[in-house]
Amino acid sequence: MASRFPAAWLDELRARADIVQIVSGYVPLKKNGHRYWGLCPFHGEKTASFSVDAEQQLYYCFGCKAGGSVIQFIMEIERLDFPEAVRFLADQLHMPLPQMENDPDWQRKRDQRDRLLSANREAARIFHQTLYTKEGEASLNYLKQRGLTDNVIRKFGLGAAPEKWDFLTQQLLQKGFTLEELRQVGLTVVKDEETLPDGTKRPKRAFDMFRNRAIFPIIDQYGNVLAFGGRILGEGQPKYLNTSDTPVFNKRLGVYAANLLRKERHLERVVLVEGYMDVVSLTQFGVTGVCATLGTALTNEQARLLKRFAPKVYLSYDGDSAGQHAILRGLDILEAEGIPARVLDFPDGLDPDEFIRRDGLEGFEKLPALSPATYRMRRLKDQYDLSTQEGRTEYAKACAQILKGLEPVEMENHLQQLMVQTGFSREVLMAQIGQTVPRVNEAVQKPAAAASVRRTPAADSTDDELRAQEMLISLLGTRRLPSDIISEQDFDDPLLKSLYTRLKEGDSPAALVDAFQDREDIRARVGRLLLTPPSEDTDQLIRMAEDCLSSLRRKRIERQIKTIMQNVNGMTGEEKREAMMQVQQLSAQLNQLKARRSTQL
Ligand code: UTP
Ligand code: MN
Repeated sequence: MASRFPAAWLDELRARADIVQIVSGYVPLKKNGHRYWGLCPFHGEKTASFSVDAEQQLYYCFGCKAGGSVIQFIMEIERLDFPEAVRFLADQLHMPLPQMENDPDWQRKRDQRDRLLSANREAARIFHQTLYTKEGEASLNYLKQRGLTDNVIRKFGLGAAPEKWDFLTQQLLQKGFTLEELRQVGLTVVKDEETLPDGTKRPKRAFDMFRNRAIFPIIDQYGNVLAFGGRILGEGQPKYLNTSDTPVFNKRLGVYAANLLRKERHLERVVLVEGYMDVVSLTQFGVTGVCATLGTALTNEQARLLKRFAPKVYLSYDGDSAGQHAILRGLDILEAEGIPARVLDFPDGLDPDEFIRRDGLEGFEKLPALSPATYRMRRLKDQYDLSTQEGRTEYAKACAQILKGLEPVEMENHLQQLMVQTGFSREVLMAQIGQTVPRVNEAVQKPAAAASVRRTPAADSTDDELRAQEMLISLLGTRRLPSDIISEQDFDDPLLKSLYTRLKEGDSPAALVDAFQDREDIRARVGRLLLTPPSEDTDQLIRMAEDCLSSLRRKRIERQIKTIMQNVNGMTGEEKREAMMQVQQLSAQLNQLKARRSTQL
């Protein structure tokens, strides 16, 4: 939940981070009224439908309906999660994080981290510069021979580690880094004094981790150089040498080329490959959104990171058998994280780099993006001998497992194919899958169920009433209504009631929009209510509120009367008299409401 940060501190952060100023850093804005307008950075457009409300400290795009507080803006544009966006803003505003103020231990750790990262940054700079000197010639030749252009070499900041023992270490020591820092960050190997078998002593030595290799710096989405991969110039082992985990690098958490991925907009999919060279090469050929895991199988953390960059992930691993296994594992991970996936199955055992050099961008774009089920069935088919009855049976059983839970239309495609491949009838296959009832009914019912998550009207209030209550929240959110005209009893929807209470207690709309970080469905609803003020005119706002209130109150009274009248037949004596009194009172209130309404008109 967002509230790892104290609410008051977040309020101060939002106040200091003037949204107009922050957004202006990304989008040129023009003032018109109390709103500022510009071209929406979240969808391509030619006329300005993106607006920032200085008074409310909210932004909203009338085109793509993106909107929220300054924190959400930073989340979207910098592709950060909530705590990261908060830290990002706090950092820019020089506001110490609440839990870290006056914590010397934390300060020390942060300083250490800063030192290690700057050692890496310096190293990346030296490696890159060296590429274009005599000492880097061998590496440059190697990269050129792999077909890379200067442009793409610059884009990825590729570099050269010369064939020398302590080329980098010496330069970094001169820049004031300590040997201990260089060891911690994995750039320098330090061997303590040793006694050799013949009794002679060998003094303490320090030498570069990367020697005689082409260097791929690993840079995170914030531009920090975290680590390096070094490729041998030709044949030999290990082919790639990578920085082991260090205080600033955990290979399970990041992906290669996150820095470039972050800058791409409107990506429909991320293309995930296995190797550094695959990323560089696909990018050179014009493929967008490419990144790689860092020499490990895809982790859950990496999958979640990818989700920030695009709504879908294309697994584009090598066509060899190791790659095929990695794809099956990767599909499981993506599925577990709820990320839609596709597979690009490279022919002839090629890796993406080899494939695009052979078939070009056109060939790459023509590759079918296989659904997980298609890919899994394709792999299963290799495992069974479909020329025997037993093989076909086992294959059908295994496929049935995969097809469970698929959407009906997708299922239909695979069923047809499976019938042809195995000779089993549709009924038999459906029974094996465990779905004798056609799934179509279920699919039709789903949207209704989903809608009820968003709206949870109290049992007896109608859609009209719910809309009126929602309107009241929108109106209150403008903070231009006298707060006493609305009361808690006007709400029976639990979410709306709590929004009312919080607005009344003085929470800002921006704070409310930020409050539901972990509930996407609720956040969307709250955003919808608070981001679009129904009017700019205060008198009109008040009139709208009065309309909503009187219609809500009237309906409620009418319903109360109706309930009493329904029960009154079963009552006798005192009870009945009391009920009728109540009805009279309610009718009087109702008439009052109606009268007030007609004088207003
Ligand atoms: P590959 O062996 O598929 O290499 O390793 P590649 O990407 O095709 O490399 P080139 O084209 O021969 O240069 C894929 C990834 O596995 C990791 C690296 O991250 C590499 O990019 N790897 C591989 C290592 O870390 N060390 C190795 O020795 C080999
Ligand atoms: Mn390769």
